[in-house]
Amino acid sequence: MAKNSNKLKILISEEKIKQKVAELAKKISKDYKNKGKLLIVGILKGSTIFLSDLVRQLDIDCEIDFIAVRSYDGKDSTGVVQLIMDLYDNPVGKNILIVEDIVDTGRTLKFLKQNLISRKAKSVKICVLLNKVGKRKTKVKIDYKGFDVPNKFLVGYGLDYNEKYRNLPYIAVL
Ligand code: IMP
Ligand code: MG
Repeated sequence: MAKNSNKLKILISEEKIKQKVAELAKKISKDYKNKGKLLIVGILKGSTIFLSDLVRQLDIDCEIDFIAVRSYDGKDSTGVVQLIMDLYDNPVGKNILIVEDIVDTGRTLKFLKQNLISRKAKSVKICVLLNKVGKRKTKVKIDYKGFDVPNKFLVGYGLDYNEKYRNLPYIAVL
């Protein structure tokens, strides 16, 4: 258990997350069965914990890659999405599932989806664990969604506040 977690209020427990991840993996496995190769693209760094739990519950073959973007400064969205690190693999012709920890304004996912489509991916879908309702600035289709969450700053299970709290096994309000 991470230290310095005593000031946090737990919003989603480890157990609830586990159940939801299994549910999502079941749906994804069903939808992508016999559809050819699936490339899972995790957005660094927040998606790493969710992605690693999710892929271990899939019963289809998949490849894994990562991409890094930045749009946040502390607790504030800057509104500008920057590509920090590109994929290792070529996305051409691949069925891609973007895996993300949380969707807030929607700018990050919109930017990445458009980027991958313009680079000739065969299909691009989105899976997020958390959907922050009420702060969307742009329309983006979420194909697989874990939980709707309130408009509060959350940490844990990959989510950070200035790089801290990612290793908490639950989601908490800062
Ligand atoms: P969007 O582009 O505004 O949808 O922002 C998505 C990104 O902002 C996520 O990948 C997170 O890194 C970050 N983010 C949004 N809300 C939170 C939060 O409550 N806690 C931690 N990070 C967040
Ligand atoms: Mg992120």
